[in-house]
Amino acid sequence: MVNVMNLIGRRCKSHLENMRATTYIPHFPKLIVCGIIFATCNSFTTGNVFANEITKDDNSIARGAYIARTSNCISCHTDVKDGSPLLGGGRPITTKFGIFFTPNITADPITGIGQWNLEDFRNALTQGVSPQEEYYYPVFPYTSFNAMSTTDIEDLWRYLESVPTAKTVNRKHQIKFPFSLSLVPRLWRKTFFRHKPFHFNPKESLRWNRGSYLVEVLGHCHECHSPRNFIGAIIKKEAYSGAKHPTENSYIPNITPDPTSGIGHWDEDDISWFLETGFLPDGDVTTGVMAEIVETSTSQLTMSDREAIAIFLKSLPPIENLSLERKKKNAEEGWQSNALHNNN
Ligand code: HEC
Ligand code: HEC
Repeated sequence: MVNVMNLIGRRCKSHLENMRATTYIPHFPKLIVCGIIFATCNSFTTGNVFANEITKDDNSIARGAYIARTSNCISCHTDVKDGSPLLGGGRPITTKFGIFFTPNITADPITGIGQWNLEDFRNALTQGVSPQEEYYYPVFPYTSFNAMSTTDIEDLWRYLESVPTAKTVNRKHQIKFPFSLSLVPRLWRKTFFRHKPFHFNPKESLRWNRGSYLVEVLGHCHECHSPRNFIGAIIKKEAYSGAKHPTENSYIPNITPDPTSGIGHWDEDDISWFLETGFLPDGDVTTGVMAEIVETSTSQLTMSDREAIAIFLKSLPPIENLSLERKKKNAEEGWQSNALHNNN
């Protein structure tokens, strides 16, 4: 049904475009009919992309919980190591600009966001601005979440309201000077942030579009897998081609389909399997933050969502990132010689 409507939609679109090229007046009746069909088609073509349409759960809280896992709200905003309560915040995030502590986002009116309304929440998530007009640092990936659908945000909000409140008091970030100046996140946002609603690409399949929404918006995969400039903005034309780890002496892999430095030799099943289990095609297992993402997020997605992610990743333009590949080899050789030393 959706495909049929898609086809009609495309036909109508080209018809409308042709008409635009000539003159509107003689075609007026056709234009109205097509306009109506096209508007209807558009609402069909964006179907099955957002989480609330996929999970088929009519319970807003359950759908919101799915989004909270997919988007890592839970893992970033819960300090599991300290045994603190769900979404009570306090988890340290170390960056080269300093240490950030995630805030408590339960509905507690004193320690959490219990005094916020849905609009405040939407602004924080999509604009990076607090109800007091303070600007957030992009370590909170509002830069990706800004394209979240309105209903997904509402579901997420209902879910947060349902979580038991936590009394954890927010910790002050330990940001290095001059990045600690409140002017910095404001200027950063003005320079690098553009609000961009999710763009449904009618030339691609529904699953590709769902994959795009999962990777670019909810899963914010490019936030880690892309190189950044000196002030922490993603270098867009090199997105997904991997990056040096911001604080450790390691690298974050290139996940474009480049055959030598990326994951071009993985097929879609390899990617889905990895997202489900953390196993790489060579039998090795992922570690660190990605192991956590697999455990708390991608392994908990539906199979169909993992497949959609794989379809989208395979469609990215392959980018060769030789410097990373070389670093990877060096690291492996270094590791081997260390192991040899230890054995001797
Ligand atoms: C990579 C870690 C990370 C992820 C993922 C993340 N956040 Fe956050 N979030 C942060 C940090 C760090 C801050 C504080 C930013 C600052 O103070 O500038 C923050 C701030 C917030 C705030 C503002 C709270 C306040 O008291 O002002 C809200 C609301 C929020 N996050 C909700 C969410 C939701 C909902 C999700 C999932 C859709 C999410 N976050 C995902 C790290 C994260
Ligand atoms: C918080 C940072 C972070 C986020 C977000 C993140 N990744 Fe990763 N990812 C990593 C790191 C670090 C590794 C390397 C782990 C290792 O060395 O074992 C990795 C490894 C991978 C690999 C294995 C590649 C290889 O060649 O070994 C794939 C595939 C991958 N990530 C896909 C994704 C996808 C898809 C998403 C979004 C759903 C995502 N990642 C989100 C940090 C991240």
